[in-house]
Amino acid sequence: MSSAETNDAFGTNEALPARLAQTADAIEALLADLLALEPRAGEIARPERLLAAMRHGALGGGKRLRPFLTIETARLFAVDEAQALRAGAGVELLHCYSLVHDDLPSMDDDDLRRGRPTVHKAFDEATAILAGDALQALAFEVLADPATHESGAVRASLVLCLARASGLGGMVGGQMLDLAAEGRFETAPRALAEADIRRLQAMKTGALLAASVEIGARLGGADAAALAALGRYGRAVGATFQVADDILDVEASADQMGKATAKDSDKGKATLIGALGLDGAKRERDRLRDEAIAALSAFGAEAAMLRAAARFAAARRS
Ligand code: IPE
Ligand code: IPE
Ligand code: MG
Ligand code: MG
Ligand code: MG
Repeated sequence: MSSAETNDAFGTNEALPARLAQTADAIEALLADLLALEPRAGEIARPERLLAAMRHGALGGGKRLRPFLTIETARLFAVDEAQALRAGAGVELLHCYSLVHDDLPSMDDDDLRRGRPTVHKAFDEATAILAGDALQALAFEVLADPATHESGAVRASLVLCLARASGLGGMVGGQMLDLAAEGRFETAPRALAEADIRRLQAMKTGALLAASVEIGARLGGADAAALAALGRYGRAVGATFQVADDILDVEASADQMGKATAKDSDKGKATLIGALGLDGAKRERDRLRDEAIAALSAFGAEAAMLRAAARFAAARRS
């Protein structure tokens, strides 16, 4: 193994699973509280079926890597842990919404997610659309809530960051390019050039992972140099993560992943495996991981968990 795959001078990969599990538990508890039956201040009522579908889409599964990135980045700046957790929950809610919609019959048409039926299977399509919509609104509500940061300017910067990452020029735009690459809107699929695939992936997956890091940094009042370095890190982790997802679609089982695999090539998805081959994609995944770690060179031991997260994004098995 290369040194980047093993432990570095600043920490160990071994510490990551426990920290990730700790974050997942804390996020689960906060999301369960945000999705409780009782209407919250300013709400009129919480329709039971819609709430149940939102809980299905957001609770009881997932690696919770995005909030982990937010929380570990915020830790570099000694941000209050409860505030970092709230910001992480905001990012995770946005992610959960994106999965609910990604699985819809009109999108990727998947029946299994996080080892359970997808929301439109467990409920129905209209409910799944609305559950995704409401999870998205809740994501922004959590970031904009004064409990997430005392400064209105900081909260506005979190909302701005998530909006840009998730909308037209980010996640949703990437989802559109992803479907277009299948040939949905023309008569035949059009093979994308490698640069176009990279851009598509930077949008559909990379933007939200990079925003997870940026939101942690903004919560901590990071200066321009730290924001720039962490931006490079977040974008490289995002790219690593999606290439790994494409490789796992080929190499992993549905049991292992909790979602269907071996489907991208059937559907004509644009992946880097198509452009570079399986071995080439693996080399690219590892190069991107090393690029992420290199972006953290100005940080010391305090960024060990972020380095481990980059290795995890590449080496994960689910
Ligand atoms: C799945 O994301 C969608 C992609 C961007 C590839 P994750 O692999 O982070 O899914 P969960 O949250 O762990 O289920
Ligand atoms: C999903 O990409 C990206 C978003 C949900 C925005 P994929 O379609 O590859 O994710 P999986 O494989 O269904 O998790
Ligand atoms: Mg998809
Ligand atoms: Mg999908
Ligand atoms: Mg996939």
